[in-house]
Amino acid sequence: MTTNELDFIVASARQAFAGAATPAELENAKAQFTGKAGRITELMKGMAKLSVEDKKTRGAAINAAKQAIEAALGDRRQALADAELEVQLKAEALDISLPGRLREPGGLHPVSLTMERIERIFASMGFDVADGPEIESDWHSFTSLNNPPNHPARSMQDTFYVDINGDDGIPYNLRPHTSPMQVRYAHQHIKKHAAAVQAGGAMPEIRVIAPGRTYRVDSDATHSPMFHQCEGLWLGENVSFKDLKVVFTDFCRTFFESDDLALRFRPSFFPFTEPSAEIDIQFQSGPLAGRWLEVAGSGQVHPAVVRNMGLDPEQYIGFAFGMGPDRLTMLRYGVNDLRLFFDGDIRFLRQFR
Ligand code: DAH
Repeated sequence: MTTNELDFIVASARQAFAGAATPAELENAKAQFTGKAGRITELMKGMAKLSVEDKKTRGAAINAAKQAIEAALGDRRQALADAELEVQLKAEALDISLPGRLREPGGLHPVSLTMERIERIFASMGFDVADGPEIESDWHSFTSLNNPPNHPARSMQDTFYVDINGDDGIPYNLRPHTSPMQVRYAHQHIKKHAAAVQAGGAMPEIRVIAPGRTYRVDSDATHSPMFHQCEGLWLGENVSFKDLKVVFTDFCRTFFESDDLALRFRPSFFPFTEPSAEIDIQFQSGPLAGRWLEVAGSGQVHPAVVRNMGLDPEQYIGFAFGMGPDRLTMLRYGVNDLRLFFDGDIRFLRQFR
C-alpha cells in the first residue's frame, strides 16, 4: 500500500461524494470508504500484521487520508443541505409583488348625508325628528289629508298598493309622500301632552320634521319608484306663512352654505294646504346660477287636516312643507341622474366618502 494508493482512495471518495445527488446517496458513498466494510476501515484492519515502525507511518498516512475523506464528506453534506434549503425556500416563497387586498373605509350614502344634514339644521331650529311607517293606511296617506276619493294621487298609476286591507277594508299603500306623518305625529303629540293639558297646562306647539322613504309608480332620470321626502310641520296658536318663509329660507341658506340664494313661493295647489305654494330656489353664482329650481311643496295647513289631527282649526294654525332630499343632494353635489343614487355602483358612491 503506497501513499499513491491512499491519494487514489481519497480522490475516489471525493468523486463519489460529488456524484451523490441526495443525502441518502451520499451516506451510501460514505459507507464505501469509512463504513464498517469501507476501504479505509479495511486498511486499518490490515495494519495488525505490521511492525511497530510501520504501524506508526502507515497509521499516520491512513489517518490523514481518513480525515481528508471526512472533510470532503462534511463539505458535501453541507452543500446538499444548502441545496435542499434553497429548493424549500423557493417552493415556499411569497410573491410580495402582488397588490394587497385593501380594506377601504366605508362612508355614508350621499342621501344619508343629506338626511343627517337636514335633521341637524331643523333640530337647531327646535324641530323634533319623527319616524313613521312606510306601509300606510289609506286614511293616513289620503283621507286625513283632505285628499278626496277621486283624487288622481289615489290611482293605481301613482300609488303602490299592498295586498293587505286596512280596518276600513281599503288596501294599505306604500306611502306616496311623508305627509301622513303630519296627522300621525299630531296624534302622538296630543296624547303625550294630554295629562298636562287636562291639568290646565298649555299644549306645546307642534314643530316636527319627518324624513323617510316614499314610493310612487314612477321611473326616469329624476324619478325613482323609491325616493325620499322630508315633511315639515309647525302648528301653534300664532304660526303664519311668514314663519314658513323665515324657516325655509334659513334652512336653504344653511343647507347650501350660501346667503347668496333667492327663494320664491309660487302659488300652487295641494288638498292639505290652503293657500299652497311651491318653493323654488335660485343660486346667484355657480353652475346652476339664474335657474329657478323647485325644492318643496308647502302651504298653510288646511282646516280639515287640523280637524283630523284632533285640534280646533279656530285655535291651531300653521304651515307644512314637503321636500325632496334626493333633489337637494343632486343640487348640492351636481349629480344629474337620480338613479345613480340607487344603483349601488361603488365607483359613484365612493366619491362622497
Ligand atoms: N306631499 C306633497 C307631495 O308629495 C308635498 C307637500 C306639499 C307636502 C305641500 C306638504 C305641503 O306638507 O304642505 O308632493
